[in-house]
Amino acid sequence: MKERILVTGGTGYIGSHTVVELQNSGYEVIIVDNLSNSRADVVDRIAQITGIRPFFELVDCLNYADLDAVFRKYPGIKGVIHFAASKAVGESVQKPLLYYRNNLVSLINILELMSKHNVPAIIFSSSCTVYGQPDKLPVTESAPIKKAESPYGNTKQINEEIICDTVKSGVDVRAILLRYFNPIGAHPSALIGELPSGVPQNLVPYLTQTAIGIREKLSVFGDDYHTPDGSCIRDYIYVVDLAKAHVVAMNRILQDKQKEKVEVFNIGTGRGLSVLELIHAFEAATGVKLNYQISERRAGDIEQVWADPAYANEELGWKAETSIEDTLRSAWNWQLKLREAGIQ
Ligand code: NAD
Ligand code: WQD
Repeated sequence: MKERILVTGGTGYIGSHTVVELQNSGYEVIIVDNLSNSRADVVDRIAQITGIRPFFELVDCLNYADLDAVFRKYPGIKGVIHFAASKAVGESVQKPLLYYRNNLVSLINILELMSKHNVPAIIFSSSCTVYGQPDKLPVTESAPIKKAESPYGNTKQINEEIICDTVKSGVDVRAILLRYFNPIGAHPSALIGELPSGVPQNLVPYLTQTAIGIREKLSVFGDDYHTPDGSCIRDYIYVVDLAKAHVVAMNRILQDKQKEKVEVFNIGTGRGLSVLELIHAFEAATGVKLNYQISERRAGDIEQVWADPAYANEELGWKAETSIEDTLRSAWNWQLKLREAGIQ
């Protein structure tokens, strides 16, 4: 019998790639998503990639009764991967209550229902945003959590605390918190990828939209930071590598191999790349010239952050393997596919 995993936000960007990897590893997947930031046809695309159609429930995690019904409809769920959340940093500053409600209440509902239905394992999507600007680089999991820069970042910090307090309370729940760095790229099939709504806020979708002519110019936000070329540094991780980290984490938690009931892992490459380095890597990987200009710093940006992934490498036995060139080619192929499909 295949083990059942509930994936909230499973038609979203990281969720869809993770569903593919879970199915490829022999898990049975039930997706719960309210399609607030994804499309229903992602389910068809996952089925096209893996040959297996995941179960799909159009349910809002804020709706306790509907979510309860999902747990009842699919008995024997072994674990939950909780991706469902609102994630736009800028929007969270404009609409803090929407972010606090969606990101906190969804998690509370999930945790309550896990207890009610005896589901013992949760993997949670956290973020390197919890570190703010770290004092030491590369950043390890034991670095202090800095005051959040945005309501979105704050929800991730509070989410982590809610999970820790719940586990501490003695209920039979174990957790792995994965702190993602900057996920980019798309599945090699170009059937699933990131679908930014409106003007992209993140670097890589803005870059590929500029390269294809949807946007005129990419602005590089600042070249006067204390970094070798003056632009900000991040740890860009291929979304398929990130997806695989969830499978390894789920195996670990279900096989009872955890050292603590709550474990935290940095999921990054360990390689810091500047904005300008990333642009040049894109041009080299795709042969496409990019129109860009240096502009003002963006308010709230961290100067530089990249992961020390040693703990994940050693304990999880997981490592980001894909080169930045292959990753950026996958992002470009996805952008080309979107044009072909007339989506963007
Ligand atoms: P995404 O928006 O593509 O996916 C989130 C999915 O959750 C969407 O399909 C959306 O429709 C769904 N959703 C949102 N609220 C819901 C609700 N109340 N009920 C049911 N479904 C709901 O985002 P993503 O980039 O795939 O991010 C997944 C998770 O990873 C999020 O928790 C995000 O905060 C976290 N994360 C993302 C990044 C990043 O840069 N993409 C970095 C660190 C952490
Ligand atoms: C990357 C770099 C920009 C756009 C955000 C969230 C974080 C996490 C990941 C979820 C920065 C620069 C960007 C552009 C640019 N999400 N840039 N021109 O800010 O590292 O992280 O997404 O948890 O919480 O804050 O990602 O892709 O927006 O920016 O120069 O048009 O690219 O200044 O240095 P960021 P990003």
